[in-house]
Amino acid sequence: MTEHIGGRPISLWLATAGQTGYPSLAADVEVDVAVIGGGIAGLTAALALKRGGLTVAVLEAARVGTGVTGHTTGKVTSLHRLAYAELAERHGASTARSYGEANQAALEHIARTVSEENIDCSFRRVPNYTYAESQDAADLVRTEAELAARLGLPSSFTTDVPLPFPVRAAVRFDGQARLHALKYLQGLAAAVDGDGSFVFEESRVSGLRDGAPGVVDTEGGAVRAHDIIVATNVPFGDEGSFETRCYPHRSYIVASRAQLPTMDATFISADEPLRSILTIDVEGTSYVLTGGEGHRVTDGGDSAERYARLAAFSRDRLGAGNAEFRWSTQDIMTVDGLPYVGRMSSGGKHVHVITGLRKWGLTNGTAAALILADTLSGRRNPWAAVFDSNRPTPPRAEIPALLQETKPQEAGKPAPGLPAPGEGTVVDAGGEPVAVYAHPDGKLQAVSAVCTHLGCTVGFNAEDATWDCPCHGSRFATDGTVIQGPATANLQSKLLPGSAKTGT
Ligand code: FES
Repeated sequence: MTEHIGGRPISLWLATAGQTGYPSLAADVEVDVAVIGGGIAGLTAALALKRGGLTVAVLEAARVGTGVTGHTTGKVTSLHRLAYAELAERHGASTARSYGEANQAALEHIARTVSEENIDCSFRRVPNYTYAESQDAADLVRTEAELAARLGLPSSFTTDVPLPFPVRAAVRFDGQARLHALKYLQGLAAAVDGDGSFVFEESRVSGLRDGAPGVVDTEGGAVRAHDIIVATNVPFGDEGSFETRCYPHRSYIVASRAQLPTMDATFISADEPLRSILTIDVEGTSYVLTGGEGHRVTDGGDSAERYARLAAFSRDRLGAGNAEFRWSTQDIMTVDGLPYVGRMSSGGKHVHVITGLRKWGLTNGTAAALILADTLSGRRNPWAAVFDSNRPTPPRAEIPALLQETKPQEAGKPAPGLPAPGEGTVVDAGGEPVAVYAHPDGKLQAVSAVCTHLGCTVGFNAEDATWDCPCHGSRFATDGTVIQGPATANLQSKLLPGSAKTGT
């Protein structure tokens, strides 16, 4: 059995930022733009629109920044591992250049916003490296460095890499940054709220309608708006066929106590297995964050082993101490490697979407938000066409094999027997799959195992104690509450199999 690494199952960012307390929407309001989702994309768009003279209302189902953005590595960079070679090969150098320019502009926008709004979020300029240990990877980083430099990015090839273990070479981008992701978002939210604009928390959206005005419904009231932005990581609603163009990808991070002097840089490996490294001081403590172990949600696997491998890397390669925090997150990848930004569907008018931020949400999300803010304000944005949400989907033959391998109904198959404390299992209750969780005190809780999005069977994620859907990445708490969409409805409470009791 895998040794448990210890530490708390919560992101460093969520554990060390105070909690916001914006009200729930309790009456109808009317604004120029309704924004669904209080993450990096939604809040950045909201603030840009407000600064441009429009009124906005941000609707967040939980608390600001507690979704995907609150689970990032905190890197703010336009160096996305080996993205430029990949994009240039698939789409041409011009598209790779636009992607780089948009992300570099996003980095500078974040730096400006931190300064202008005086956001205390440990923002610090540092270089970012993609490092190579093998000769093959060294060849790749040389190619990436030279290509990125030709595209006008702050790129260079180097063999001088400030890591505490030997590497052959790296591509280095200067003037990049790291920050405390949640504190940055909380700063954005504070700047959005007020003067006719609003941030509403614990306001889950139950439906939306395009029109003039468009309407966004929640339990407590509706928001009427000329335009609606859906910035919920996985798009909300059935328009746009994003299920066929995107797939969720899960990755893991361990934050351990730093014991070596802080490395004033951020890193990602070009070799496999991928390792993403960042050090940061939070409230007087230095942490080393190691990320990786990514996989398609349908691939499952033992998350305790994944955390253990990351903790071992932190300890053995980076000299880190005990794991203090561990967390996982699901990012949305697109079939052609570029984010989707623009109208939700080609037939719609006023509903817009941001998704597919390919694990680089702090900059891609900011870039996407600025593109939409320009579009809704009537300004031409030079990168809008490359990110266009209604661009053609590549032919099936060109879609990565990973995306075509989905066998959703095989995951989370009913298993015999009831779970041990702290575990969950899907059982067959008269032909119906029921998800049963045993709380640490042994109390059982049963909810439907049928995902409320499109009906796949959820499976238990033991490390995070969540019910996860393998099809499009919805996640539910053990009581069935939606944590992450595209599902918008909770899993229904069920009778415990073999008893007359309702799940607690
Ligand atoms: Fe689509 Fe569950 S997320 S079926």
